[in-house]
Amino acid sequence: MMQDKAIACWEANADTWTRHIRAGFDVHRDYLNVPAFMAMLPPVEGLRGIDVGCGEGSMTRLLAQRGALMHAIDLSPKFLGHAREAERSQSLGISYVLADAIRLPFLDCAFDFAVGFMSLMNMPDQRSAFAEMQRVLRPGGFVQFAILHPCFVPPHRQVLYAPDGTIRALEIGGYFEVIDGRVDRWWFAALPPDERERVAPFQVPCFHRTLSTWLNLVSEVGLTVERLGEPCADKATAEAIPHLAQTRIAPLFLHVRARKPV
Ligand SMILES: C[S@@+](CC[C@H](N)C(=O)[O-])C[C@H]1O[C@@H](n2cnc3c(N)ncnc32)[C@H](O)[C@@H]1O
Repeated sequence: MMQDKAIACWEANADTWTRHIRAGFDVHRDYLNVPAFMAMLPPVEGLRGIDVGCGEGSMTRLLAQRGALMHAIDLSPKFLGHAREAERSQSLGISYVLADAIRLPFLDCAFDFAVGFMSLMNMPDQRSAFAEMQRVLRPGGFVQFAILHPCFVPPHRQVLYAPDGTIRALEIGGYFEVIDGRVDRWWFAALPPDERERVAPFQVPCFHRTLSTWLNLVSEVGLTVERLGEPCADKATAEAIPHLAQTRIAPLFLHVRARKPV
């Protein structure tokens, strides 16, 4: 997929995405993905961090609130506009820069840690993105990223229900297909029906890779995997927020932390 087409998709998504995320319609994110990601994160207070593919900046702000000195990049000017507006209304000392993940405009060893929260599976050249994160990390620094789980959210995925309406299983397929820029169209799961009628679905460019491809890319650029996470909603949360029940069958998200050797 051409880069300008990817930028066009994210520019088209940015305003509605920002509004919906800030309204709490992405329940998977708020009640599972972000809490699990933050629980897995080592202490970042006083560390220099870079958020790669920051979108409207909510993960960047969380990291800054934990005391990290944050820079963040994204290739969508509109998303960065929303992130900068939030920074202007409540400053956390975050610097947002328009850039492509495959060419980070920072010096070697400039950061203690890097994150990529739900952004790397939307990029065509993950190898270069990992290589760049490795380059800008100091020796001993870490990268932690979250992606759609490659095993359980492959190109084909359907939730199968039992006659009583409970989730029985997942049907998955196409795991070994290399998907390069298929544009998926969807809304956040908890979007109210009236809002669903008003707004067009997001257009999300997807770049599916197998689990082994992801982990091999990480190690091929010189990072050592040190922790994996597969968030699963607890029973009470799944009962309170039924959208999350499917994460008790199989994970939707994969979290990976890897370190640059000293
Ligand atoms: C699914 S959104 C996630 C945004 C944010 N991390 C969050 O969790 O809300 C993916 C983001 O990656 C950005 N992105 C996609 N390809 C990129 C690239 N090559 N370089 C930088 N950002 C990119 C998009 O503009 C979009 O903001």
